[in-house]
Amino acid sequence: MEGSVIGMSTGGKRWCRTAQKDYPAILAVDAVGTVGKPGEGVVDFDVGSLVLFEGSFINGRYIPPVHPSGSSRHREDRTFDQAASVPLGLTTAALARFDQGSAGLPLPWEESGRGKFAGKPFVLFGGATSVGQYSIQLAKLSGLSPVIVTASPSNASYPRSLGTTHVLDRALTPSALLSRITHLTGGAPVEIVFLTAQLPSLEPPVSVLAPGGTLATVWPVIDDAKRAAAPGRKVVRVYGGANTEVTRRTGHSLHRRLPRLLESGELKPNRVENLADGLKGIAAGLKKMEKGEVSGVKLVVGPQETL
Ligand SMILES: NC(=O)c1ccc[n+]([C@@H]2O[C@H](COP(=O)([O-])OP(=O)(O)OC[C@H]3O[C@@H](n4cnc5c(N)ncnc54)[C@H](OP(=O)(O)O)[C@@H]3O)[C@@H](O)[C@H]2O)c1
Repeated sequence: MEGSVIGMSTGGKRWCRTAQKDYPAILAVDAVGTVGKPGEGVVDFDVGSLVLFEGSFINGRYIPPVHPSGSSRHREDRTFDQAASVPLGLTTAALARFDQGSAGLPLPWEESGRGKFAGKPFVLFGGATSVGQYSIQLAKLSGLSPVIVTASPSNASYPRSLGTTHVLDRALTPSALLSRITHLTGGAPVEIVFLTAQLPSLEPPVSVLAPGGTLATVWPVIDDAKRAAAPGRKVVRVYGGANTEVTRRTGHSLHRRLPRLLESGELKPNRVENLADGLKGIAAGLKKMEKGEVSGVKLVVGPQETL
């Protein structure tokens, strides 16, 4: 692949810190570039095709996206930087609600699932995260409504432009959040709540969730204490990899339709910030994440821009 760009996530930050001991090593998951020369037996991708993909880490080892379901191509009407924001964020958002391991809802990018949940509420904590931005757009395809998210007031307009109906200030107290959400849903049962951000209290997400509903999270681990905090609810840890035995069917379906979703504008990539100096910019990017200075944008780096 030529001319690639890599997307960073706060998840990647944690992985780099704790798991990798031997170098050189691949530390990135999302990447985009153009096909320089198709490998033997590759028929789907011509020279010059724009390709975006998500690899995965299994037991600390990078597994390339060998399965075709992990790759997509689309016209060059999006920048490399924007395209690099798509794979992990979108896959995580998709698997949170539509994979059999989670809530198993019908796939909204397929005709049979489109608009299927019209009039049902969706609640997302972390509407400005990279994953959250994709989750909002998939909720819109599903017909879910109202779509209620939390974010900083300074970020409220962007989630709205993607399909959010109500943005609540993430700094509201747990009881204020709970009462605002209950008011907005009219007390209707919420079948699925998605957490893409760490919360000071689990009371709002758990209390708005219908008994038997699904609390989908990006937490790396779900311990007994977290399960105990959500009695009678299904608590699911989403792993945003589309290449596992479990997730492959959903991943394949999503990636097959991805070019059309991007071309039609039904799916918009994240807003991005390209870090200066290519790979050397990663350290500065990690610092920004650590200080909570990354807000509503996805950080990306261009390896070929390394000085
Ligand atoms: N399990 C997996 O496979 C997987 C995959 C991808 C990501 N993740 C995890 O998912 C999380 C999100 O990752 P990302 O890359 O999408 O995030 P990100 O874009 O780096 O998230 C930054 C955003 O988080 C928001 N935020 C922080 N605390 C919040 C809170 N208490 N309430 C609401 N919003 C809050 C901020 O919103 P405002 O600017 O509006 O304040 C900020 O814009 C990370 O924990 C990451 O590790 C997991």
